[in-house]
Amino acid sequence: MIIKPSIRSNVFTNAHPEGSKAYVASLIEETKQFDPIKGPKNVLIIGGSSGYGLASRVALAFGAKANTVNVSFERPPKNKKTGTAGWWNNIHFQSFANTLGTTHKDFVMDAFSLKTKQQVTDYIKTHLGGVDLVIYSLAAGARPGEDGNLVKSKILPIGEKEEGKTIDVAKREVKTLTLEPAEEKDIEDTVYVMGGGDWQDWVEYLNNEAALNPQAKTISYTYIGSEITYPIYRGGTLGKAKEDLETRAGLMDDMLRESVNGEALISSSKAVVTKASVFIPQMPLYVSCLFEVMKAHNVHETILEHKYRLFKDMVYGSLRQTDPSGRLRMDSFELNENIQKETMNLMTTLSDAKLLQLNGTHDFYKTFYAIHGFGLPNVDYDQDIDLDAYAKMKPE
Ligand code: NAI
Repeated sequence: MIIKPSIRSNVFTNAHPEGSKAYVASLIEETKQFDPIKGPKNVLIIGGSSGYGLASRVALAFGAKANTVNVSFERPPKNKKTGTAGWWNNIHFQSFANTLGTTHKDFVMDAFSLKTKQQVTDYIKTHLGGVDLVIYSLAAGARPGEDGNLVKSKILPIGEKEEGKTIDVAKREVKTLTLEPAEEKDIEDTVYVMGGGDWQDWVEYLNNEAALNPQAKTISYTYIGSEITYPIYRGGTLGKAKEDLETRAGLMDDMLRESVNGEALISSSKAVVTKASVFIPQMPLYVSCLFEVMKAHNVHETILEHKYRLFKDMVYGSLRQTDPSGRLRMDSFELNENIQKETMNLMTTLSDAKLLQLNGTHDFYKTFYAIHGFGLPNVDYDQDIDLDAYAKMKPE
């Protein structure tokens, strides 16, 4: 089968197994340009098959020679369906990490369930003894409620309706969108799905089971943004979920200090292209203009560079930049006043046609395709892929 990109409503409906291999290889290749990290020995990543979680896993496995355990929710290939990019990322990560002489384990299971927490904790205790770092990098659209029914998160503004522009990736056009304000229930549901409740459940579970090593740390990724993204992000339903995440980090910090002399951290990360971020209205256009400006000022970081710097300088290094709430401010380049002013200027003054021609927009497209295994150099996209043969590959 020849696999060509297929996108619907800014979501890829397929992925390319060989392209995903090239993508994971490119992340690993990037780590080689950096000095090693003196970091954790054993790491649990919840949401490590793509985006920030995958970049964290690669940075620590290849940069710090850490053992990694990853929990992700991905679909394998079936009949004519290619499986998700994250499925292939897990498989290829394993094959590359094989050469390291360290241990890497994947659980493709629902992170929200107690059964997953039990199985993963048992594995950690049996095979690694305990973990030094727990990374919570989940981006989920739904989570089972207490009654078993799925609760869905909604990305909406709060208070007033919001009008703005985004990029329709499949049609390659700029379109205007209007989002009605969230109801109280939308806010509640989004906090339940994307807030810090499940992160806290994981850390408490691991702590109660004595699966956290002395000085163990935990970290999750928030987004603060600026006035450009405020209505749809920080001031909207997602912002409420992130406030909850940050509050719970404070509670976990107290608990970890007492139990293992550890800490709970929040990194305010920069906007990057991931399958989750492209789903957020306006983000494709904001990120395209932002990339244009950050590249012009030589302050652009790839997703891997961003996470490498986080662990090397801030989590395990002595170059922490924190704000009064204790959050690690990895977003200082993005939020620089001039960068934001120029980004806003591009977004509001350029015609739709000009916006689509920006180098930043091309970078956005290139990255969005690459994270699904498309458009990578040295991959033969006319190659007939035997999906049945690939379907026999399983993450270990
Ligand atoms: P992503 O969509 O690339 O990755 C999400 C991960 O969560 C995947 O590994 C997926 O398999 C896993 N996942 C989803 N539902 C699951 C479930 N039920 N059980 C197990 N695993 C599940 O997302 P991205 O963008 O890397 O987001 C990760 C975190 O970083 C999120 O909390 C997001 O808010 C945060 N963040 C992202 C930014 C961005 O620009 N992408 C900026 C700042 C923060």
